[in-house]
Amino acid sequence: MSKHQPSGVLQWLSLFLLMSLFGVSHGEVGTAGQYSPPYLPTACYGNTPAQFPSSNLFAAAGEGIWDNGASCGRQYLVRCISASVPKTCIPGETIQIRIVDRAATSLSRPSSNGATIVLSTTAFSTIANASANSINIEYSQ
Ligand SMILES: *[C@@H]1O[C@H](CO)[C@@H](O)[C@H](O)[C@H]1NC(C)=O
Repeated sequence: MSKHQPSGVLQWLSLFLLMSLFGVSHGEVGTAGQYSPPYLPTACYGNTPAQFPSSNLFAAAGEGIWDNGASCGRQYLVRCISASVPKTCIPGETIQIRIVDRAATSLSRPSSNGATIVLSTTAFSTIANASANSINIEYSQ
């Protein structure tokens, strides 16, 4: 009467394939906050409006990845893994962001102190509930 469940081996294989596809095994774990406009000027490119990707997926680097300014223009893949409030992360969403500023000196202040990376409101709300101040992330360059 009841249908057979897929075998355990198949489930593990699918999980492994999914994890490889999304690069889960290569990321580092950190935290992310968000910051809102005004975004100009930035520590990386001053008042140049063209520095922002048209997707508005950009971020300010925390001190840990700022790298004395070498992080300017770097691209990171970021996904939300957890937060203090359950269901804050939007499942299955990974964004690619560009570093344009330094969180320690950004004109508009980050929603949380000491974050690894501070996301634009568009970037943050793509991977998590926009009303959160801080989320745990996995990121890779
Ligand atoms: C986002 O979080 C707020 C505050 O915790 C909550 O009231 C709201 O329902 C959440 N929104 C979604 C879409 O989960």
